[in-house]
Amino acid sequence: MMKLADCLLNWYDECKRDLPWRRDKDPYKIWVSEVMLQQTRVEVVRAYFERWIERFPTLQSLAEAQEDEVIQYWQGLGYYSRARNLHQGAREVATSYDGQMPMTKNEVAGLSGIGDYTSGAILSIAYDQKEPAIDGNVLRVFSRLYCIEGDIATPMIKRQIREQVEKEMAIDRPGDFNQALMDLGATVCIPKAPRCEECPLLKSCCAKDKGMQQQLPIKKKKVPPVPVEVVAGVLQDGELFLLRKRPKKGLLAGMWEFPAIEIPVGENSMEVFQRGFLCETGQEVQMAKLLLQCIHIFSHRKWDISFYHCTYEDGNRPLGKDLFWVNKSDWDKISFAGPHRKMANYLLNEMD
Ligand code: ADE
Repeated sequence: MMKLADCLLNWYDECKRDLPWRRDKDPYKIWVSEVMLQQTRVEVVRAYFERWIERFPTLQSLAEAQEDEVIQYWQGLGYYSRARNLHQGAREVATSYDGQMPMTKNEVAGLSGIGDYTSGAILSIAYDQKEPAIDGNVLRVFSRLYCIEGDIATPMIKRQIREQVEKEMAIDRPGDFNQALMDLGATVCIPKAPRCEECPLLKSCCAKDKGMQQQLPIKKKKVPPVPVEVVAGVLQDGELFLLRKRPKKGLLAGMWEFPAIEIPVGENSMEVFQRGFLCETGQEVQMAKLLLQCIHIFSHRKWDISFYHCTYEDGNRPLGKDLFWVNKSDWDKISFAGPHRKMANYLLNEMD
């Protein structure tokens, strides 16, 4: 049986899409096209790409341009940080690499706005280096080819697919191999109703063999972060503030915070804080004034946190396990947990 790469490349030679960035192997043009294609459809990108290259035909011309004009030529594509990063990246090549696009994975992936996928695409397409360029299309094609039933959003499955791609990659035409996979994913091995009868890899496809092509890939829905109300107390004694070092394990492990407590749904937040504080220190506090309220989103939790200035019995500083009175002049040396840094900065600025 013909090798997978040969089947794919024969198909590509016959069916490849005529796209303006495929007319030469200029790494700069490939870079521009890949960045535009990250969040925008091929048909929309065509016209933008041609207009862009007319105005900024070389890396040097882009590096020398003003940001306003660069943004103007991106107008309508959205996600403008892509344009800013591309511009910044072009300037990095101009200053750090004498205007010549670097040729190693580390150097290319180190440029602004370029990650694993884009560096793989540039190196394979422009220089025929054997680097995979794995995007959502490639994950879909390979999860079907090999009946990979794990969640393609996980690093483990991504790694497994990467190894397969590296194994199958055409030695002599890695750039065309990657682009063939992109075209296959975009036109044949499409998400909902794959056109298997047109597929050059039909005979090697495990999912098709088992009738599983519609079920794959498995992509678990991201669980949205759970909203949690948090109350924190700011207790002061001159230049000293009461801080707690978080436990060594779990969320924000080992980082510093103003003493805080999560409020169970439906409970009175001030009461919960006061009760918790009493339990921890044996002392009562009064919550005098709301200083700051903010939202902070972690991957699994969304804190709605309120910081209250608290008062306590004169001359009787609360103490407790993991609690420390820390001088604010030492705050630049410790790492505050997420939103607690905001509160700390607020206090530092306010008191300057
Ligand atoms: N999608 C992302 N990169 C692409 C490319 N080089 N050709 C076609 N589609 C793509």
